[in-house]
Formats: sequence, structure tokens, C-alpha cells
Amino acid sequence: MSLVPVYPRLELMVACDQNLGIGKDGTLPWSLPSEFAYFLKMTQNYQGNGGKVHASIFGRANWESIAKTCGDNNPWKDTICYILSRSMSAHQLPENVFVCSSFEDIINHLNRPEIKERVDRVWVHGGVSVYTEALRSPYFYRLYRTTIEATYPADVFFPRVDESRLTLVHDPDVLQGTQHENGVNFQVFVFQTTGINPLV
Ligand SMILES: NC(=O)c1ccc[n+]([C@@H]2O[C@H](COP(=O)([O-])OP(=O)(O)OC[C@H]3O[C@@H](n4cnc5c(N)ncnc54)[C@H](OP(=O)(O)O)[C@@H]3O)[C@@H](O)[C@H]2O)c1
Repeated sequence: MSLVPVYPRLELMVACDQNLGIGKDGTLPWSLPSEFAYFLKMTQNYQGNGGKVHASIFGRANWESIAKTCGDNNPWKDTICYILSRSMSAHQLPENVFVCSSFEDIINHLNRPEIKERVDRVWVHGGVSVYTEALRSPYFYRLYRTTIEATYPADVFFPRVDESRLTLVHDPDVLQGTQHENGVNFQVFVFQTTGINPLV
């Protein structure tokens, strides 16, 4: 039996500092425009597979942070977006944006025939509990992790994973090798599931 899930394949996208810090005061702790541009390029809509679209999964706080930053220019407006929240109302959300009160509900929604036929890749955008649920899910496929070789004040941290339970893979679409911007180095690593829960 293959260790790689067939559908939906959850692909996590994250940038972490040396302490696994990912957020501070509801936003990113750093300013790395080329890293952010790479992140957008990977996760925004992609029409390369028979006109299918990406799906994106956000925790409520992350979604609100993006809405505040981007306003009407939501970079994922041409994708199918899921917001994980128990408090948010689905009232007045744009087309193709769905609120789900559990991770299981998102998986079930992705499996609806009319959604499944449209979806190509499924990106998990965090925050912490969304990443945690995805990493322990049987649908976890890949972790795209940008490692920033610096530390920043942070109040949100990526969950600890045991990298020996994952396989480092090559993806030609990511930034290759060490990058340098605003006085720091960073590098993209792509890990793939081995079928074992990688959470420590
Ligand atoms: N560096 C990076 O790559 C990166 C990536 C993502 C986020 N971030 C940063 O991380 C921070 C946001 O992340 P966060 O962890 O604080 O918050 P978050 O995960 O975005 O949002 C938390 C909220 O999501 C909902 N939620 C989470 N798990 C749920 C579940 N199992 N069932 C139902 N609802 C659930 C709850 O909403 P309700 O309260 O509405 O029920 C919860 O309060 C920001 O600073 C952001 O900039 C950084």
C-alpha cells in the first residue's frame, strides 16, 4: 500500500525562525519580501492541471490577519478557501470561502464530488492547531518549511516534528539553496510523509 495519500493531499506551507517562531501579535515576525513572494507563487491559484484550482486552509486568526493586510486583494481569491473556526459566521463571505468548525468537516467538504473534481493541490496555511491537525492526519502529504537562520520575538510556534520520520525530497518549484535578504539567510526544505505521525 502506498504511504502517500491520494486525495486530499495536505501540503503545509510555513516559515519558521530558529526557535520555530512563526508569528507575533497576529502577524509575521519578519519582513522577507522574496520569501513572501515565493509563498504566494506556490499557493495562489494554479491552472496547470486541467483548469483545476488550489484549495487553502486557514485558522480563523490567520485568515483575519490576511484580510487586514490584503483587504479586497485576497491573494487566494481564485482558490477554494476554508476557514477553521467555531465562532465565525459564514454570513457575507465571498464565493468559494467556507467556514468549517472542525478539521474533519473540511476533509468531508473537500470530498464532495463537485469540490473534488475542481481541486488540484490543498495548502495548509496554519496557524498552530491547524498545522497540528494536518500533521497528524492520514491526509498529510508534504511540509514546505522555510527555515530562517535568525531568531525573532514570537508568540506563536510551529509544532515540533521529528524529521527522521519524514523524507527530505527535491521540488524544483521552490527556491533552491540558501537565500539572503534583509541581512538574514533562509532556505526552503520540503519534507514528505513516511506514513508515520511526525509530531513529537
Ligand atoms: N510564519 C508562517 O508561515 C505563518 C503561518 C501561519 C500563521 N502565522 C502566524 O501565526 C499567527 C496565527 O496563528 P494562530 O495559531 O495564533 O491562530 P490560527 O490557527 O490562525 O487561528 C486560531 C483559531 O482558529 C480556529 N481553530 C483552530 N483550530 C480549530 C479546530 N480544530 N476546530 C475549530 N476551530 C479551530 C479557532 O477559531 P475560533 O476562535 O473562531 O473558534 C482558533 O481561535 C499569526 O501571527 C500569523 O501571522 C505564521
